[in-house]
Amino acid sequence: MGRSYVLRLDDDKAIRLLDMLKSGCSGQRLAELLGVSRTSVWKFVKKLEEMGYVIEAKRRVGYRIVKSPDLSVYEVARVCWEFRRWIREVRYYKVVDSTNERAKEDGRRGVLYIAERQTRGRGRFGRNWISEPGGLYFTLTVPDPFPIDDVTKLTLTAGVAVAEAIGGRLKWVNDVMIDGKKVCGILCELSGEVEDPVVIVGIGVNVNNEVPENATSLKAVKGRELNRAEVLKGILERFFKYYDTLKGGGWGEIREKWRMLSETIGKIVRVRTAGGVVEGRALDIDEDGALLVDSNGSVVRVTAGECIHVE
Ligand code: BTN
Repeated sequence: MGRSYVLRLDDDKAIRLLDMLKSGCSGQRLAELLGVSRTSVWKFVKKLEEMGYVIEAKRRVGYRIVKSPDLSVYEVARVCWEFRRWIREVRYYKVVDSTNERAKEDGRRGVLYIAERQTRGRGRFGRNWISEPGGLYFTLTVPDPFPIDDVTKLTLTAGVAVAEAIGGRLKWVNDVMIDGKKVCGILCELSGEVEDPVVIVGIGVNVNNEVPENATSLKAVKGRELNRAEVLKGILERFFKYYDTLKGGGWGEIREKWRMLSETIGKIVRVRTAGGVVEGRALDIDEDGALLVDSNGSVVRVTAGECIHVE
């Protein structure tokens, strides 16, 4: 596993420092602010350079960041600061096996795991999630104890949040699509005790990474590279808003949003389930988020499976 960087969102010192360095600041001022020696400031600047920041150092003027990576532990912490009610810690990896796996192993609530690259990114149905550089790969652990029966609803909620944030549409259960091609996948898992599990929400978005023919990326759609920290921010804003809605008993509102964003309802679908293949017209999602399919005149309720749009 590659190097990891951890930042707890207890105080905003690191974020303020970064902001000061972005607008330019003398080593003296920084040392005062940090309450450390000039050598420590120099070491901090070197650390930032290692992370891909380009820093100009001028005598008497001080340091100034002239170029920042779009993702680093600091850029992510800066985005997460306004969500510190839900996220207490950021764990950033250059390379990791899978952010979901890290979250599962840790078993702690209120942590955001994020990686530049995953070597064993996990997809649904035991598949690999190819995680090339340039994509957004992160996992959130839900901050509070969460009813296990509502995990499907949470998965759909995450889908709504991402679809709204990136201008996508939803394919049941929660593939986010643009122009009929997959741009994001979501994998919810559980960790810890069955009576009191930690709920894990893993999200992979194709942002600036290369993708296979049958998928798309935000870069391909927009025709330019996007700042991944900004994309993350848009997703978190909506996710926590709807998370609170869901916790407050507002599933009906989220379900309605899912319907509006759905690309599946009304289509002829083929769903591969554990009990066999269900084919027919997708009518709706029910109270529990299950897909209702009109199959030869009878309504079949599908709770899990891989859905393909036939027409
Ligand atoms: C799918 O198959 O559609 C779900 C893909 C989920 C991929 C994300 S990337 C971040 C997180 N870590 C993983 O190993 N998987 C999820």
